[in-house]
Amino acid sequence: MTIKVGLIGCGSIGTVLAKFIDASPQFSLTHILDDDAERCEILMKGLHSKPASVIRTDDMTGTDLIIEAASQECVRERGPKMVEKADTMFMSIGAFSDMMLFNDLKERAEKSSHRIYIPSGAIAGLDGIKAAAQSGLETVMLTTRKNPKSFEGTPWVIKHDIPIHSIKKPEIIFEGSAKHAAEWFPKNVNVSIALALAGIGPERTKVRIIADPFAERNIHEIIAEGKFGSMTVKLENNPSPHNQKTSRLASMSAIATLKKISETVQIGT
Ligand SMILES: NC(=O)c1ccc[n+]([C@@H]2O[C@H](COP(=O)([O-])OP(=O)(O)OC[C@H]3O[C@@H](n4cnc5c(N)ncnc54)[C@H](O)[C@@H]3O)[C@@H](O)[C@H]2O)c1
Repeated sequence: MTIKVGLIGCGSIGTVLAKFIDASPQFSLTHILDDDAERCEILMKGLHSKPASVIRTDDMTGTDLIIEAASQECVRERGPKMVEKADTMFMSIGAFSDMMLFNDLKERAEKSSHRIYIPSGAIAGLDGIKAAAQSGLETVMLTTRKNPKSFEGTPWVIKHDIPIHSIKKPEIIFEGSAKHAAEWFPKNVNVSIALALAGIGPERTKVRIIADPFAERNIHEIIAEGKFGSMTVKLENNPSPHNQKTSRLASMSAIATLKKISETVQIGT
Protein backbone atom coordinates (compact mmCIF):
# COMPACT_ATOMS: atom_id res chain seq x y z
CA MET A 1 0.00 0.00 0.00
CA THR A 2 1.27 3.48 -0.84
CA ILE A 3 1.04 5.94 2.03
CA LYS A 4 -0.34 9.30 0.81
CA VAL A 5 1.45 12.17 2.52
CA GLY A 6 0.62 15.85 2.97
CA LEU A 7 3.50 18.12 4.00
CA ILE A 8 3.11 21.40 5.90
CA GLY A 9 6.29 23.49 5.84
CA CYS A 10 8.56 23.52 2.80
CA GLY A 11 11.69 24.83 4.54
CA SER A 12 14.92 22.97 5.22
CA ILE A 13 13.46 19.90 7.02
CA GLY A 14 10.37 19.80 4.79
CA THR A 15 12.54 19.80 1.66
CA VAL A 16 14.67 16.87 2.87
CA LEU A 17 11.52 14.90 3.75
CA ALA A 18 9.77 15.74 0.47
CA LYS A 19 12.78 14.50 -1.51
CA PHE A 20 12.91 11.28 0.52
CA ILE A 21 9.17 10.69 -0.04
CA ASP A 22 9.49 11.56 -3.73
CA ALA A 23 12.08 8.81 -4.14
CA SER A 24 10.26 6.16 -2.03
CA PRO A 25 7.82 3.73 -3.63
CA GLN A 26 6.12 3.21 -0.24
CA PHE A 27 5.05 6.87 -0.11
CA SER A 28 3.39 9.37 -2.38
CA LEU A 29 3.53 13.12 -1.75
CA THR A 30 0.02 14.31 -2.60
CA HIS A 31 -0.19 17.80 -1.02
CA ILE A 32 2.17 20.54 0.12
CA LEU A 33 1.33 23.67 2.10
CA ASP A 34 3.42 26.64 3.19
CA ASP A 35 2.41 30.14 4.32
CA ASP A 36 5.09 31.32 1.91
CA ALA A 37 3.82 30.21 -1.53
CA GLU A 38 7.26 30.76 -3.08
CA ARG A 39 8.68 28.00 -0.85
CA CYS A 40 6.12 25.58 -2.33
CA GLU A 41 7.10 26.58 -5.87
CA ILE A 42 10.83 26.14 -5.19
CA LEU A 43 10.25 22.73 -3.60
CA MET A 44 7.99 21.57 -6.43
CA LYS A 45 10.72 22.31 -9.01
CA GLY A 46 13.02 19.76 -7.34
CA LEU A 47 10.44 16.92 -7.28
CA HIS A 48 9.41 14.27 -9.80
CA SER A 49 5.90 14.05 -8.37
CA LYS A 50 3.47 16.93 -8.69
CA PRO A 51 1.72 17.35 -5.32
CA ALA A 52 -1.17 19.81 -5.10
CA SER A 53 -0.13 23.08 -3.48
CA VAL A 54 -2.92 23.97 -1.05
CA ILE A 55 -3.63 26.72 1.46
CA ARG A 56 -5.85 25.03 4.05
CA THR A 57 -5.29 21.84 6.07
CA ASP A 58 -8.85 20.89 5.04
CA ASP A 59 -7.71 20.79 1.41
CA MET A 60 -5.42 17.81 2.14
CA THR A 61 -8.07 15.33 1.13
CA GLY A 62 -7.39 11.60 1.13
CA THR A 63 -4.03 11.81 2.91
CA ASP A 64 -2.97 8.98 5.23
CA LEU A 65 -0.26 11.01 6.94
CA ILE A 66 0.27 14.75 7.42
CA ILE A 67 3.76 15.95 8.34
CA GLU A 68 4.27 19.27 10.12
CA ALA A 69 7.74 20.77 9.54
CA ALA A 70 6.77 24.43 9.91
CA SER A 71 6.60 26.15 13.29
CA GLN A 72 5.14 25.99 16.78
CA GLU A 73 2.41 28.43 15.66
CA CYS A 74 1.52 25.95 12.95
CA VAL A 75 1.10 23.16 15.53
CA ARG A 76 -1.17 25.39 17.60
CA GLU A 77 -3.20 26.69 14.63
CA ARG A 78 -3.39 23.68 12.34
CA GLY A 79 -2.69 20.80 14.77
CA PRO A 80 -6.36 20.11 15.72
CA LYS A 81 -7.46 19.78 12.06
CA MET A 82 -4.38 17.72 11.21
CA VAL A 83 -4.88 15.05 13.87
CA GLU A 84 -8.60 14.75 13.06
CA LYS A 85 -7.88 14.32 9.36
CA ALA A 86 -5.03 11.78 9.30
CA ASP A 87 -2.11 10.28 11.17
CA THR A 88 0.38 13.06 11.86
CA MET A 89 4.07 13.58 12.43
CA PHE A 90 5.14 16.74 14.26
CA MET A 91 8.61 18.29 14.08
CA SER A 92 7.93 21.52 16.04
CA ILE A 93 7.76 19.60 19.27
CA GLY A 94 8.58 22.66 21.38
CA ALA A 95 4.85 23.49 21.09
CA PHE A 96 4.20 20.53 23.41
CA SER A 97 5.76 22.26 26.39
CA ASP A 98 2.08 23.24 26.64
CA MET A 99 0.71 19.94 27.93
CA MET A 100 -2.87 21.18 27.46
CA LEU A 101 -2.22 21.47 23.73
CA PHE A 102 -0.52 18.07 23.66
CA ASN A 103 -3.36 16.37 25.55
CA ASP A 104 -5.99 18.08 23.38
CA LEU A 105 -4.33 16.84 20.16
CA LYS A 106 -3.90 13.38 21.65
CA GLU A 107 -7.60 13.21 22.58
CA ARG A 108 -8.71 14.41 19.13
CA ALA A 109 -6.40 11.87 17.46
CA GLU A 110 -7.74 9.06 19.66
CA LYS A 111 -11.35 9.99 18.83
CA SER A 112 -10.51 9.90 15.11
CA SER A 113 -8.46 6.66 15.43
CA HIS A 114 -5.31 8.41 14.23
CA ARG A 115 -1.74 8.19 15.45
CA ILE A 116 0.68 11.00 16.33
CA TYR A 117 4.38 10.41 15.56
CA ILE A 118 7.08 12.43 17.31
CA PRO A 119 10.59 11.73 15.97
CA SER A 120 13.53 11.84 18.39
CA GLY A 121 14.89 14.78 16.39
CA ALA A 122 18.38 15.89 17.22
CA ILE A 123 18.86 13.50 20.17
CA ALA A 124 19.16 9.79 20.84
CA GLY A 125 18.37 7.52 23.76
CA LEU A 126 14.60 8.05 23.90
CA ASP A 127 14.12 4.27 23.64
CA GLY A 128 16.01 3.85 26.95
CA ILE A 129 14.19 6.79 28.57
CA LYS A 130 10.79 5.35 27.56
CA ALA A 131 11.73 1.92 28.92
CA ALA A 132 13.07 3.39 32.18
CA ALA A 133 9.91 5.54 32.56
CA GLN A 134 7.82 2.37 32.91
CA SER A 135 8.97 2.16 36.53
CA GLY A 136 10.91 4.48 38.81
CA LEU A 137 12.63 6.94 36.46
CA GLU A 138 13.69 9.57 38.97
CA THR A 139 15.79 12.29 37.32
CA VAL A 140 16.43 13.37 33.75
CA MET A 141 18.85 16.17 32.99
CA LEU A 142 19.71 17.61 29.58
CA THR A 143 22.81 19.75 29.14
CA THR A 144 22.91 21.61 25.84
CA ARG A 145 26.12 23.28 24.74
CA LYS A 146 26.13 25.57 21.72
CA ASN A 147 28.07 28.46 20.31
CA PRO A 148 26.84 31.72 21.93
CA LYS A 149 25.64 33.04 18.55
CA SER A 150 22.96 30.29 18.56
CA PHE A 151 21.30 32.10 21.45
CA GLU A 152 21.28 35.52 19.85
CA GLY A 153 17.90 37.23 20.25
CA THR A 154 16.36 34.57 22.51
CA PRO A 155 13.91 36.02 25.06
CA TRP A 156 16.11 34.82 27.98
CA VAL A 157 19.23 36.54 26.63
CA ILE A 158 17.28 39.74 26.00
CA LYS A 159 15.57 39.70 29.42
CA HIS A 160 18.82 39.16 31.32
CA ASP A 161 20.84 41.38 29.02
CA ILE A 162 23.45 38.60 28.55
CA PRO A 163 26.40 39.98 26.55
CA ILE A 164 26.37 37.01 24.17
CA HIS A 165 29.10 38.40 21.86
CA SER A 166 31.64 38.97 24.62
CA ILE A 167 31.49 35.48 26.16
CA LYS A 168 35.10 34.25 26.10
CA LYS A 169 34.78 30.95 27.99
CA PRO A 170 31.96 28.37 28.46
CA GLU A 171 29.21 29.86 30.63
CA ILE A 172 26.01 28.38 32.04
CA ILE A 173 23.34 30.84 30.93
CA PHE A 174 20.24 28.89 32.01
CA GLU A 175 19.22 26.20 34.50
CA GLY A 176 15.60 25.18 35.03
CA SER A 177 12.78 22.91 33.91
CA ALA A 178 12.23 21.88 30.28
CA LYS A 179 8.95 23.81 30.45
CA HIS A 180 10.75 26.97 31.57
CA ALA A 181 13.45 26.44 28.92
CA ALA A 182 10.75 26.15 26.25
CA GLU A 183 9.28 29.50 27.25
CA TRP A 184 12.62 31.33 27.18
CA PHE A 185 14.48 29.51 24.37
CA PRO A 186 11.65 28.81 21.89
CA LYS A 187 14.04 28.02 19.03
CA ASN A 188 16.23 25.62 21.03
CA VAL A 189 13.65 23.45 22.80
CA ASN A 190 12.53 20.65 20.51
CA VAL A 191 15.11 18.33 22.00
CA SER A 192 14.19 18.98 25.64
CA ILE A 193 10.47 18.54 25.01
CA ALA A 194 10.96 15.27 23.09
CA LEU A 195 12.99 14.07 26.08
CA ALA A 196 10.33 15.29 28.53
CA LEU A 197 7.47 13.59 26.65
CA ALA A 198 9.38 10.29 26.55
CA GLY A 199 10.24 10.47 30.25
CA ILE A 200 8.98 12.42 33.26
CA GLY A 201 7.32 15.47 31.66
CA PRO A 202 8.31 19.11 31.02
CA GLU A 203 8.13 20.20 34.70
CA ARG A 204 10.42 17.47 36.10
CA THR A 205 12.92 17.25 33.21
CA LYS A 206 15.81 19.59 34.00
CA VAL A 207 17.73 21.61 31.42
CA ARG A 208 21.07 23.37 31.61
CA ILE A 209 22.20 25.58 28.72
CA ILE A 210 25.86 26.44 28.19
CA ALA A 211 27.08 29.12 25.80
CA ASP A 212 30.49 27.88 24.68
CA PRO A 213 32.55 30.04 22.31
CA PHE A 214 34.67 26.97 21.45
CA ALA A 215 31.67 24.78 20.46
CA GLU A 216 31.59 24.03 16.73
CA ARG A 217 28.83 21.44 17.04
CA ASN A 218 25.54 21.41 18.96
CA ILE A 219 26.21 19.13 21.92
CA HIS A 220 23.41 17.48 23.91
CA GLU A 221 24.14 15.32 26.94
CA ILE A 222 21.37 13.41 28.70
CA ILE A 223 21.88 11.96 32.17
CA ALA A 224 19.05 9.89 33.63
CA GLU A 225 18.82 7.99 36.91
CA GLY A 226 16.24 5.67 38.41
CA LYS A 227 15.49 2.13 39.51
CA PHE A 228 16.90 0.88 36.19
CA GLY A 229 20.34 2.31 37.03
CA SER A 230 21.79 5.28 35.19
CA MET A 231 22.18 6.35 31.60
CA THR A 232 24.38 8.89 29.82
CA VAL A 233 23.88 9.76 26.17
CA LYS A 234 25.98 12.37 24.39
CA LEU A 235 25.38 13.75 20.92
CA GLU A 236 27.69 16.05 19.01
CA ASN A 237 25.55 17.22 16.13
CA ASN A 238 26.76 18.66 12.87
CA PRO A 239 24.52 21.39 11.47
CA SER A 240 22.27 20.65 8.51
CA PRO A 241 23.93 21.58 5.19
CA HIS A 242 20.67 23.43 4.37
CA ASN A 243 20.23 25.38 7.62
CA GLN A 244 23.02 26.10 10.14
CA LYS A 245 20.47 26.43 12.95
CA THR A 246 19.15 22.87 12.51
CA SER A 247 21.07 19.67 13.27
CA ARG A 248 21.49 17.26 10.37
CA LEU A 249 20.22 14.45 12.61
CA ALA A 250 16.77 16.11 12.97
CA SER A 251 15.68 15.43 9.38
CA MET A 252 17.42 12.02 9.42
CA SER A 253 15.36 11.12 12.49
CA ALA A 254 12.15 12.11 10.67
CA ILE A 255 13.15 9.88 7.75
CA ALA A 256 13.83 7.02 10.19
CA THR A 257 10.31 7.55 11.62
CA LEU A 258 8.80 7.42 8.11
CA LYS A 259 10.66 4.16 7.48
CA LYS A 260 9.38 2.78 10.78
CA ILE A 261 5.81 3.61 9.69
CA SER A 262 6.20 1.86 6.35
CA GLU A 263 8.52 -1.08 6.99
CA THR A 264 7.63 -4.56 8.18
CA VAL A 265 10.53 -4.98 10.62
CA GLN A 266 10.59 -2.55 13.58
CA ILE A 267 13.90 -2.19 15.44
CA GLY A 268 14.01 -0.62 18.91
CA THR A 269 11.09 0.62 21.02
N1 LIG B 1 12.30 17.93 16.36
C1 LIG B 1 13.54 18.41 16.22
O1 LIG B 1 14.54 17.89 16.73
C2 LIG B 1 13.73 19.63 15.41
C3 LIG B 1 15.02 20.00 14.99
C4 LIG B 1 15.15 21.14 14.21
C5 LIG B 1 14.03 21.90 13.90
N2 LIG B 1 12.81 21.53 14.36
C6 LIG B 1 11.61 22.34 14.08
O2 LIG B 1 11.07 21.97 12.82
C7 LIG B 1 10.42 23.12 12.25
C8 LIG B 1 10.92 23.31 10.81
O3 LIG B 1 12.30 23.55 10.84
P1 LIG B 1 13.09 24.06 9.53
O4 LIG B 1 14.52 24.14 9.89
O5 LIG B 1 12.67 23.25 8.35
O6 LIG B 1 12.47 25.54 9.39
P2 LIG B 1 12.45 26.49 8.08
O7 LIG B 1 12.33 27.87 8.61
O8 LIG B 1 13.55 26.16 7.16
O9 LIG B 1 11.06 26.10 7.36
C9 LIG B 1 9.80 26.29 7.94
C10 LIG B 1 8.77 26.52 6.83
O10 LIG B 1 7.47 26.47 7.41
C11 LIG B 1 6.69 27.56 6.93
N3 LIG B 1 5.70 27.89 7.98
C12 LIG B 1 5.93 28.42 9.20
N4 LIG B 1 4.78 28.53 9.89
C13 LIG B 1 3.79 28.06 9.08
C14 LIG B 1 2.40 27.89 9.26
N5 LIG B 1 1.76 28.28 10.39
N6 LIG B 1 1.68 27.35 8.23
C15 LIG B 1 2.31 26.99 7.08
N7 LIG B 1 3.64 27.12 6.87
C16 LIG B 1 4.38 27.65 7.87
C17 LIG B 1 7.69 28.68 6.65
O11 LIG B 1 7.19 29.57 5.68
C18 LIG B 1 8.92 27.88 6.15
O12 LIG B 1 8.89 27.72 4.75
C19 LIG B 1 10.74 24.31 13.16
O13 LIG B 1 9.64 24.58 14.02
C20 LIG B 1 11.92 23.83 13.97
O14 LIG B 1 11.97 24.42 15.27
C21 LIG B 1 12.65 20.41 15.06
